[in-house]
Amino acid sequence: MNYNDIVAFIKNTFTPYPKSYIPNPISYIPNPISYIPNPKSYIPYPNSQLPNPTIPLHEPKFIGNEKEYLNECIDSTFVSSVGKFVDEFEKRIAEYTGSKYAVVTVNGTAALQVALRLAGVSENDEVITQPLTFVATCNAIKYLGANPVFVDVDKDTLGLSPESLERFLNENSVIENNKCVNKKTNNKIKACLPMHTFGHPCKIDKIVEICDKFNISVVEDAAESLGSFYKNKHTGTFGLFGTLSFNGNKIITTGGGGMILTNNEQLARKAKHITTTAKVPHTYEYIHDELGYNYRMPNLNAALGCAQLEQLPKFIENKRELAEKYKRYFEKLDDITFISEPENSFSNYWLNAIILKDKNERDKFLRITNEQGVMTRPIWKLMYKLEMYKDCLRQDCKNAEWLEDRVVNIPSSVRI
Ligand SMILES: Cc1ncc(COP(=O)(O)O)c(C=O)c1O
Repeated sequence: MNYNDIVAFIKNTFTPYPKSYIPNPISYIPNPISYIPNPKSYIPYPNSQLPNPTIPLHEPKFIGNEKEYLNECIDSTFVSSVGKFVDEFEKRIAEYTGSKYAVVTVNGTAALQVALRLAGVSENDEVITQPLTFVATCNAIKYLGANPVFVDVDKDTLGLSPESLERFLNENSVIENNKCVNKKTNNKIKACLPMHTFGHPCKIDKIVEICDKFNISVVEDAAESLGSFYKNKHTGTFGLFGTLSFNGNKIITTGGGGMILTNNEQLARKAKHITTTAKVPHTYEYIHDELGYNYRMPNLNAALGCAQLEQLPKFIENKRELAEKYKRYFEKLDDITFISEPENSFSNYWLNAIILKDKNERDKFLRITNEQGVMTRPIWKLMYKLEMYKDCLRQDCKNAEWLEDRVVNIPSSVRI
């Protein structure tokens, strides 16, 4: 396979290069005074690099009211977690997703942690999830002292497989006092945490149906799937909770940010309470009635979010056009499959992905594309191969292993 042709096709698709990625030789000469790192206090960020003239995997686009809203926010002096944009952003996300309530957080990981806590997850509980995901999914479980349990994914959705989930539960669980218990570990299986990978919805209705049967709450990790629908319903609105991320690499960004979605008013109130240090309203006293977090998104970030959300429909349309272009191109090539939206789904195509023939071809593709300034990345290492999760319980995960060796993300930014 001649990967140079693919490099040329991608470069052509993204020409002209986004201006921000062509380093300006003058602006990157470090100022000798301000940039001399103090050896004692300077810890470089592990991934920090000077920008290369590379076609990025996914860059944010600020082409709407971002600067206007940010200025308004600064002028108002309400830059922290109280202000009109934070409330407005919650309302607009609730309206867009069709979720009754939306509670904003500082990032998607915090949203997951709070949603899981409110779903009743605590020390030594088990949470069923997929091994093919970004590490934050599992970290949020671990922050609560609980443990992830891994079941396989489906090859067509890249998301948690309902069949694998049902098999695991039939073989390993019993219901005791209305609670689902793992009969081998005696721990409670409190929640199931499926993820909508790269924006492609998993078979979430089936997952919820199975979990209902076993009295397990569903928290959907919809960090990557804002704007994606399954059977005409927005992802993240099927389970007890759904969570979103607005990290800089997501379809819209607030710099950093997240959102908890739920249709349950009591839980939404509780989520807002514990993400704002559990402060009881009072004219002047500081009363906090339980252990809370300082997890509310600042108004500055929400101002960016409101402006970005206004552009979401346009971004999705543009990204779906790109996906169609990739699909037509890869259809003609043997040994490479473009990952299209699964059945019954409308995908936001956050990150486009292809499946290579095997691991050798994947590695060759990654090397050639990256060497030539086209940013491509392998799918994540499976979670149970990471040191922190290597001893977690798991079902046979053949599909996840197969995909791990072959799936690569290719440039997917909005081209406007
Ligand atoms: C699947 C998944 N879950 C959770 C997160 C965590 O979101 P954040 O980076 O906003 O904490 C991300 C993205 O970063 C993600 O891709």
